[in-house]
Amino acid sequence: MSEAKTLEKTQSVSNMLLKGKKGIIVGVANKWSIAWAVAQACIREGAEIGFTYQGERVYRNLEKLFKEADLKDPFSVNLDVTKDEELKSAGETIKKEFGQIDFFLHAVAFAKREELGGEFVNTSRDGYHLAQDVSSYSLIALSKALKPCMEEKGGSIVALSYLGSERVVKNYNVMGVAKAALESSARYLAYDLGPKNIRVNVVSPGPIKTLSASGIDDFSKMLEHFRNIAPLRKNVSADEVADTCVFLFSDYSRAITGELIYVDCGYNTLAM
Ligand SMILES: NC(=O)c1ccc[n+]([C@@H]2O[C@H](COP(=O)([O-])OP(=O)(O)OC[C@H]3O[C@@H](n4cnc5c(N)ncnc54)[C@H](O)[C@@H]3O)[C@@H](O)[C@H]2O)c1
Repeated sequence: MSEAKTLEKTQSVSNMLLKGKKGIIVGVANKWSIAWAVAQACIREGAEIGFTYQGERVYRNLEKLFKEADLKDPFSVNLDVTKDEELKSAGETIKKEFGQIDFFLHAVAFAKREELGGEFVNTSRDGYHLAQDVSSYSLIALSKALKPCMEEKGGSIVALSYLGSERVVKNYNVMGVAKAALESSARYLAYDLGPKNIRVNVVSPGPIKTLSASGIDDFSKMLEHFRNIAPLRKNVSADEVADTCVFLFSDYSRAITGELIYVDCGYNTLAM
């Protein structure tokens, strides 16, 4: 290798934002998942990444993704975030087998299909509880389960939300209320965990075509409307969200906690 090439390589390694860091990514379902883009960006920036997966079917998807990305047998553990025993055992397994971590991503949400369309006033009690449990309470439960893995060095937690938490977005319904609770939970967690130097922030992307998004009525119309009027006149990509997560996991954001950061081409700033 020429001297110039060696220098270029050394510089690019030293410029890696997450070199020497370890993190857990929660919420990869397939190659369209925002969490998969985040995992790849973290790896590009030098981090060692472990994964959780929700059941064997998702694990088979993960295996394919690992192969395509040339990842050699990364750490992974089964976790349904609604099950306390799985949260406890996943936390213990991560601590024992993966070790202390520097960050984790919460990219988990779920609501019944029938709750993501029609009139919000018809939201069922069950549907409300389920959306809150999976999409909001899970951030608190995960933070508790993974706290022992972050206590030695401190760390960074990032959760993904959406503008439907504070503005009415047609059809987002019960998930908007769950995202409002998620964002508020992040602020309370940031206060609790701050003395341990664990930061908690929320990233709020614009709409992106993924498996979860396909459950929302008229989602392609949302994408079209968004790219027609957002200040940057385009849709957001999962890679753009991932780069913001990298920043929040890195030491460059070391004084930022309890914040909500929009990655939405400026859409949230619009009134008309
Ligand atoms: N796609 C968008 O337009 C968009 C916009 C803003 C925010 N978000 C948020 O991004 C996050 C990731 O969603 P995505 O769009 O990448 O879709 P996705 O379907 O790829 O990811 C959702 C993930 O949630 C996981 N999950 C659901 N229930 C679970 C449970 N009980 N236990 C463990 N995991 C569970 C699924 O396995 C899946 O991996 C979600 O919080 C979503 O609300 C998405």
